[in-house]
Amino acid sequence: MFEGKSILTGVKPTGKPHVGNYLGAIKPAIELARQAGRFSLFIADYHAINAVKDTELLQKEIKEIACVYLAAGLQPDKDYFYRQADIPEIHEITTILYAFTPKGFMNKSHAYKACVEKNLAENKPADDGVNMGLFTYPTLMAADILAMDTDIVPVGKDQIQHVEIARDIAGAINAYFGKELLKLPQYYARENIAVIPGIDGRKMSKSYNNVIPLFEDEKTTKKAVYATVTDSKSIEEPKNPDDVIVYQIYKCVADSQKAEEMAEGLRNGKLGYGHIKGMLLNEILEKTKEEKEKYDYYMAHYDEVKGFLADGAAKARPYAQATLKRLKETIFG
Ligand code: TRP
Repeated sequence: MFEGKSILTGVKPTGKPHVGNYLGAIKPAIELARQAGRFSLFIADYHAINAVKDTELLQKEIKEIACVYLAAGLQPDKDYFYRQADIPEIHEITTILYAFTPKGFMNKSHAYKACVEKNLAENKPADDGVNMGLFTYPTLMAADILAMDTDIVPVGKDQIQHVEIARDIAGAINAYFGKELLKLPQYYARENIAVIPGIDGRKMSKSYNNVIPLFEDEKTTKKAVYATVTDSKSIEEPKNPDDVIVYQIYKCVADSQKAEEMAEGLRNGKLGYGHIKGMLLNEILEKTKEEKEKYDYYMAHYDEVKGFLADGAAKARPYAQATLKRLKETIFG
């Protein structure tokens, strides 16, 4: 399905990923990469500065996200792995896109609309705390995508609209000039994307404060796993696995046979909550052991990572340059 296709995705460096991100987004992205003709993954650092202005924090988050993706199996020699800030043509392309983007597209964009709704609910002015970076961000995102002649953008549900905006802008430009200047991208949202529950049973998310951290030491991981919410049933009492959050998380980490064993043990009163928390902890530590070693290595050898990112930018930039050239030649003659 993806053979020969150009697949691209961007990640905002805003906080170290947790186990939910890892299983639900990062691992699946790497699997897609192996099927793609060309896989681009870039760190959306210009998107991040709309929210994060602290230089040290930004540097830390860029470093962490880069090391996480490398640990997860991104292949810097094969894939296109770069920082958005290293492809300046993206911004010239953005400016061109502005001229073909109805302002209404931005008014309707989820990220902006959510801010406005929150402000109004709190009796604040509609645009309180909204900067132009946030307001126009779907256009920058469109440039990220269109610059690289992207066929497919794998996304979570919240990003579908943005890919559609990119497609609409590209379509408008192509229609205006009567030729295919820009490739029309398609989004790809996996059907039954796994929602990994957090330790309180809601979706695992930093904003709910219910995450199991990724690539941390055993003690930190254990603390989170053992804080998973349970009721007070004794070991012997039969438990319905569907009501047990530890099991719900375990199911996402362990293979189906192991998951069935835990389910059986819960149903017939052989396993208590202490046991299954231990099983979950071990499974997480075991499943991420090799990757954690790689992560620690890259964190300690960041110069190597910076080298990969520079090489990635050198590989990616010619695509953005060619796209910009096509646009400028057509528009300005
Ligand atoms: N907006 C995306 C997010 O918030 C990140 C992103 C920026 C992106 N540019 C992109 C994703 C281009 C896919 C393609 O997660």
